[in-house]
Amino acid sequence: MSLLDVRNLTVRIGKGGASILDDVSVRIAEGETLGLVGESGSGKSTLGMAILRLTPHLLGHGTSGEVFWKGRDLLKAPNREMRRLRGREISMVLQDPMASLNPVQSIGVQLREALTHAGRPASAAEQALAEVNIPSPAERLKSYPHQMSGGMRQRVVGAIGIAQEPKLLICDEPTTSLDATIQYQYLELLARLRDAHGMSMLFVTHDFGVVAKICDSVAVMYAGRIVERGPVREVFRAPKHRYTEALLASVPSTTARPDRLPAIPGQPPAVGRRPSGCPFRPRCAAATAQCETQPPEEDMGPNHTASCWHPAGSDA
Ligand SMILES: Nc1ncnc2c1ncn2[C@@H]1O[C@H](COP(=O)(O)OP(=O)(O)OP(=O)(O)O)[C@@H](O)[C@H]1O
Ligand code: SF4
Ligand SMILES: [Mg+2]
Repeated sequence: MSLLDVRNLTVRIGKGGASILDDVSVRIAEGETLGLVGESGSGKSTLGMAILRLTPHLLGHGTSGEVFWKGRDLLKAPNREMRRLRGREISMVLQDPMASLNPVQSIGVQLREALTHAGRPASAAEQALAEVNIPSPAERLKSYPHQMSGGMRQRVVGAIGIAQEPKLLICDEPTTSLDATIQYQYLELLARLRDAHGMSMLFVTHDFGVVAKICDSVAVMYAGRIVERGPVREVFRAPKHRYTEALLASVPSTTARPDRLPAIPGQPPAVGRRPSGCPFRPRCAAATAQCETQPPEEDMGPNHTASCWHPAGSDA
């Protein structure tokens, strides 16, 4: 059984409003790290936050589908249960570290509170900072968020997520404010802590290099949909959706660490302006009239699926 099983999740801006997420299904098994990639605005953060119901304003009448956690639908769980579960079982490292830190409380107060909430001893706070390589952790516990660099804040937020020892850690672009030289060190550290604590991960990133480094499987998002999903090696070796193919084809091989996804001509459609059928249609060189209807998700190999009428590498 999957640890997390998101089924047909649609999130709209109000009842009958435009959809941000469209019929999204993803599963994460125990111990699995799933990378979630896609251009800006594709809905990656919304998916991470919807799993934890951190977007209450979006999760009203405009939401349908299920978010099963250990077989129970979180979208139907009482608020009390969600509060208990956040941090203890599923923890999320938000894209903007400042959004998760309270500016008027010291790091120590915030870290100890998170530990206590997760049923762990507050005395583990210093060790938690040391684990993410924060120098002089005892001193740093007394600091306030504004007294730290962006990269250090990002690691503090990571420390809070990991120290709670959740079963699933959702990391939303946790390395964007780190400079290139320490980005990979931090990734290695995250992967080591993940293994040591036996966590599963949903890892949101713009960077295919990151996916290759720490993920087992990858889901590619475009305009609110998962268009392809499969084991990292399979998807990289033989991408099936034309969007994945275009993304991988334009990764510059000489650049070890592209910050943003490589450019594909054109822009992804804004929420509310997504075309009918396959949303990639206006930018796709392989599009035909058939693509004006939504392609079904099809098996492309073991645990590998894609929704494309004319998959790459086929003559169809
Ligand atoms: N509360 C909201 N009301 C209206 N639109 C929203 C809301 N939240 C998100 N959106 C829109 O939904 C789309 C998806 O947003 P989201 O932040 O999930 O994308 P993302 O893939 O995480 O992008 P990025 O890579 O830039 O972080 C965006 O176009 C965003 O503007
Ligand atoms: S369904 Fe059609 S438009 Fe969409 S990616 Fe495949 S070929 Fe291109
Ligand atoms: Mg985001």
